[in-house]
Amino acid sequence: MVERINELKLQAKERIGLATSSNDIENLRVEYLGKKGKVVEILKDLKNIEPEKRKEIAMVANQAKDEIEKNLELKKEEIKEKEYENKINNTKKVDLTLPTDLNIGSLHPITIVQKEVEEIFESMGFTVEDGNEVETEYNNFEAVNVPKHHPARDMQDTFWLENGQLLKTQTSAAQNRIMKKYGTPLKAIFPGRCFRNEELDASHENTFFQMEGMMIDKDVSIANLIYFMKTLLSEIFKKDVDVRLRPGYFPFVEPGFELDIKCLYCGGKGCKVCKHGGWIELCPCGMIHPNVLKMGGIDPEENSGFAFGLGLSRLAMMKYGINDLRILNSCDLRSLKQLGIK
Ligand code: DAH
Repeated sequence: MVERINELKLQAKERIGLATSSNDIENLRVEYLGKKGKVVEILKDLKNIEPEKRKEIAMVANQAKDEIEKNLELKKEEIKEKEYENKINNTKKVDLTLPTDLNIGSLHPITIVQKEVEEIFESMGFTVEDGNEVETEYNNFEAVNVPKHHPARDMQDTFWLENGQLLKTQTSAAQNRIMKKYGTPLKAIFPGRCFRNEELDASHENTFFQMEGMMIDKDVSIANLIYFMKTLLSEIFKKDVDVRLRPGYFPFVEPGFELDIKCLYCGGKGCKVCKHGGWIELCPCGMIHPNVLKMGGIDPEENSGFAFGLGLSRLAMMKYGINDLRILNSCDLRSLKQLGIK
């Protein structure tokens, strides 16, 4: 019997050594030392032992119990420590010595304005589409009614790539692809970065942002165009904005217009911002030329539509009172801070 007890002790020690969690320890405690545990099981046979040996065996059994208990306790402590260590290692650390005013960055003014315009148009049922930055000559020019050698190409000094493609000079470059993709009725806007080989100054950059928009359906008219633009601009500037159309020439629209807004700074009286004219030129637009519709797979006899090319960079400048376009591409965090953008 003493042998059985020693064997049990050894077996328990081994198994306790292999335990890896507090749960394992509790299970082993019940298995060996519990009311129906293995030690109690052995002690049941004590009654079959002659009385003079019983005392000695009981002593061995009690010692074994104590030892198992001690081993369980030791292992329990060891596991607790490991579990605590793991918890600490897996917890996100906070460095309390770091300064609290970390500069975590902010959205760029153009991104903020772009998102705002997108939300307003989405609320009016327009979808927001993506355009490419590298485009084909066809999409950028031919498909919007600007064939080779057309004088309008001179207005957009183009960055050509060696493979004959180009960096898109206008968001209008996506018109054809979007018409072919969706057909009619169509209500879409497509913001994007455009590139032109411009001489840089306060109002010219080689990289700038536009937001193109198109609405095509049966009986779309200039009245629709004015309504959508007026709603957009009033939402953006948070006040009722007066707009006017002047004739403007763009090969992809007929008739074409320049949409002006009444100067928000002087209310139309004339000031430095509007160059004393009372109006600010903001968005070229017009009724989509039948050739452009045809090239997009849309029948101009059945459908009509308007398009516009909103200058996002210019809009951001007006909204934030920025007087030099170059600030927007300068990556200078100080200018963002000055604009009060957090
Ligand atoms: N793509 C023209 C530009 O960058 C802007 C423009 C004018 C877009 C008239 C239009 C439009 O959709 O109808 O100069």
